[in-house]
Amino acid sequence: MPSIVVVGAQWGDEGKGKVIDMLTERADFVVRFQGGNNAGHTVVVGGQEFIMHLIPSGILHRGKFCVIGNGVVVDPLVLLEEIEGLKKRGIDIDSNLGISDQAHLIFPYHKALDKLKEAKVGPGKIGTTGRGIGPCYTDKASRVGIRVADLLDDELFRRKLKMNVEEKNLLFTRVYEAPPVEFDSIYRDYCLYREKISPYVISAPLLLNRALEQNKTILFEGAQGTWLDIDHGTYPYVTSSSATAGGACVGTGVGPTRIDQVVGVVKAYTTRVGEGPFPTEFPPPLMEQIRAKGKEFGATTGRPRRCGWFDAVLVRHAILVNGISEIAVTKLDVLDNSPRVRICTGYRLSGKTLDHPPAAIDRWPEIEAVYEDHPGWLTDTSEVTSFEDLPPQARRYLKRIEELLRVRISIVSVGSKREQAFHV
Ligand code: IMP
Repeated sequence: MPSIVVVGAQWGDEGKGKVIDMLTERADFVVRFQGGNNAGHTVVVGGQEFIMHLIPSGILHRGKFCVIGNGVVVDPLVLLEEIEGLKKRGIDIDSNLGISDQAHLIFPYHKALDKLKEAKVGPGKIGTTGRGIGPCYTDKASRVGIRVADLLDDELFRRKLKMNVEEKNLLFTRVYEAPPVEFDSIYRDYCLYREKISPYVISAPLLLNRALEQNKTILFEGAQGTWLDIDHGTYPYVTSSSATAGGACVGTGVGPTRIDQVVGVVKAYTTRVGEGPFPTEFPPPLMEQIRAKGKEFGATTGRPRRCGWFDAVLVRHAILVNGISEIAVTKLDVLDNSPRVRICTGYRLSGKTLDHPPAAIDRWPEIEAVYEDHPGWLTDTSEVTSFEDLPPQARRYLKRIEELLRVRISIVSVGSKREQAFHV
């Protein structure tokens, strides 16, 4: 497996961390290519839970080199806390982590702006994680962002920071009627971060392309999911980065001809956090049951996730835009107590049945999901270790998903622990 991209095919939280953790055994490098600490990848190893926000979850395997690519936006405070936290738990970081010199940095004014913007918009808000992700990518696209390489050059850093603070303070005081931020304290803090971060700084395109020349295997770890992608998601209810497979190239400097495989991760049902349309969302009693059984609370913000039936229309489109060659289905066990399981096979809109979602987001609330009903298996699957040992109804459910998506299911996960998953 020379280079594999793993992406979420729904609205994030599909269990990518777990799948990455399984695939990492055969990889040499694990690379994050987009997003920031809005992500939260949960992995349970030896009874211990690890939640990674920035560092690729591959770090939990010995001897795997982990890279934070140029497409990631890095909050240095969060990164350093994560490094310290992992070190305290005995994880070797110093020889196994590289941070791209082209990655953009998140500053306190990005976080403040994120919160102010959300508070101001009111009813039309996005429901962001409030981590400054959107404003940082906005600066990147506006060509005023500050990158890791800029931080390493004190004079350049000072100049760029000054310019940004002046501009942001106009926004704070004149548009948002909020207090300004202070240049001196930000400058001082970031100089301290520079000292701690600089040993990890690398050129991701050089490191990764050289690795590929030496036949090393690279795993590209997507964060969020296809339907949160800035281009292909339910815009504007999306994050600000390219969470689809193409983002792996842009966000690392590895060209598309070097990617061999794209694995899409889906839950056996659907969840989303934050605002935006959700055609297969459960009605209240079922919502609470599945949320409790699936522990569907955000790994980053703790917010309750919205839950719904498996939506083959959404995932079919995700397969298309990512070029997904196989899928991993996670959290099958969460449906164990459901007497009936439903799959959405089409969208009814204006008297027509669509098999791909419409781009016009304002029409989504009118979508009526067309369902196919299947008998539930009403059996505990959490100890099952092979496809053949699953109850027949669960096998039929997965086979039907394969049929509707026209891609093979290669991994099934039936619980949060490392051992609760198997290849098919
Ligand atoms: P932002 O990425 O913080 O700007 O948030 C934009 C949207 O993406 C909001 O709906 C968030 O809830 C959602 N989002 C961001 N990161 C994640 C994630 O890791 N899982 C699920 N939803 C996310």
